[in-house]
Amino acid sequence: MPKVTFIYPDGRKRDVEPQSGLTILEIARKFDIDIEGACEGSLACSTCHVIVDPEWSERLDEPSEDEEDMLDLAFGLTPTSRLGCQITVTDDLDGLVVSLPSETRSAMG
Ligand code: FES
Repeated sequence: MPKVTFIYPDGRKRDVEPQSGLTILEIARKFDIDIEGACEGSLACSTCHVIVDPEWSERLDEPSEDEEDMLDLAFGLTPTSRLGCQITVTDDLDGLVVSLPSETRSAMG
């Protein structure tokens, strides 16, 4: 099982060990971590925005154009921002570190 570390806006850390193959959004739901995910992973919002640790960001698959488009709407965008519903965590990503942005802005209106 891959280990994933979530870092909250206030600096607290939470380590979880989800089963392989879940997305960051699914993992957050499962472990009660506060990621909104308003569109349930259908790339129609940016409320699942997470900031990937720079050391890890290069190891993830490139974001799709649709993901980039939605990310442009995310509040507090950073160079390593991604949509949590688009990152699938497998054993290859064991040790992944992602930070939660301090605020999200819903694109669902
Ligand atoms: Fe809406 Fe990820 S949950 S884009």
